[in-house]
Amino acid sequence: MSSERVISFARGVPSADLLPVAQIAAATARALAEDPAGTLAYGDGAGYGPLREWVAARYGGTAGNVLLTNGSLQGLAFLAETLFAGSGGRAVVEAPTYDRAILILRRFGATVETVDLQPDGLDVDAIEAMCVAGRVPGLVYTIATFQNPGGATLSRAKRERLVALATTYGFLVLEDDPYGELRFSGEDLPSMYSLEGGTQVLYSTSFTKTVAPGVRSGAMILPSALHARMRKLAIDTYIGPSMLAESTVYRYCAAGEFEPGVERMRGALRERCHSLTAALDRHLARRVRYVRPEGGYFLWIELPGVDADAVADHADTAGVPVVKGSTCYPDGRGREALRLAFSACPAADMDEGVARLAALVP
Ligand SMILES: Cc1ncc(COP(=O)(O)O)c(C=O)c1O
Repeated sequence: MSSERVISFARGVPSADLLPVAQIAAATARALAEDPAGTLAYGDGAGYGPLREWVAARYGGTAGNVLLTNGSLQGLAFLAETLFAGSGGRAVVEAPTYDRAILILRRFGATVETVDLQPDGLDVDAIEAMCVAGRVPGLVYTIATFQNPGGATLSRAKRERLVALATTYGFLVLEDDPYGELRFSGEDLPSMYSLEGGTQVLYSTSFTKTVAPGVRSGAMILPSALHARMRKLAIDTYIGPSMLAESTVYRYCAAGEFEPGVERMRGALRERCHSLTAALDRHLARRVRYVRPEGGYFLWIELPGVDADAVADHADTAGVPVVKGSTCYPDGRGREALRLAFSACPAADMDEGVARLAALVP
């Protein structure tokens, strides 16, 4: 490891200065004062009722469709177990995609297949071709908005087509949307969940990126039958998720802290993304290709002809950790790409971080 200060592009987390410490402290105190029994109980396996109401009012469905879990990845694990454990089946993911989603789907027995991620989101033609060939997947897992790691957003036209295909061929779509609130340029798009109505499309969101990772509170909005099965699995696994966390998040949201918190985050992300792309243009100019994200945490860069895995290994030593593109593919591709998270790096550090990285590109 270098003796220089670490400038990290590796972790998709907010920097400490963006965490709403005082607001969470106050919300915790209110949770204990206003609903001590509910806040300190095991509670319902589907999560704290008032927060389920809040989630349904903001993202769709009813409180009865909302399953709150200790982080949204726990929800994905419950879904994967429900759909694939014992029976197997095919899950289609974007290539590249979130590495942990690949791990979880495989862990519960899914065969993971890919369709390419394009600048306007996943290749819907490829999904259609699979279906036409009689290879209808069990689940399409997509991070449609400000994709991790690609930064791309699925266009409105493709959202409508994917929803229509799901309805025609009867496959499920999981719209994993932890970043949708974090738009810093361009126009909002409707969720596929809202376009479809919640029969074939399942929606997942998380308070990790909008409030703080440490609250470990995520939410899925599910059709009733699947909700009942996953709620039972939740009860069988941990009785109930953390009521203390969910009651606190509920008080934070109910007090009107959510919007200003997200607005602060959007402002910082806009500035950080801009500084990062400016630094890349300065230091790597024509060597680098990227699609400019309109929100979220990540910039995906391609370095044609460069062994980016080796760059990433050296970047660790140079104190500028990054994520290897190859870890985001289930099939060994991505060796000329890197994921740069701009969420945790102050704008003032971007130039130095990119300069260090650029010095490692042969
Ligand atoms: C696409 C995606 N889904 C889920 C998560 C994890 O969310 P949580 O902290 O709610 O488990 C992340 C975090 O990086 C993510 O990028």
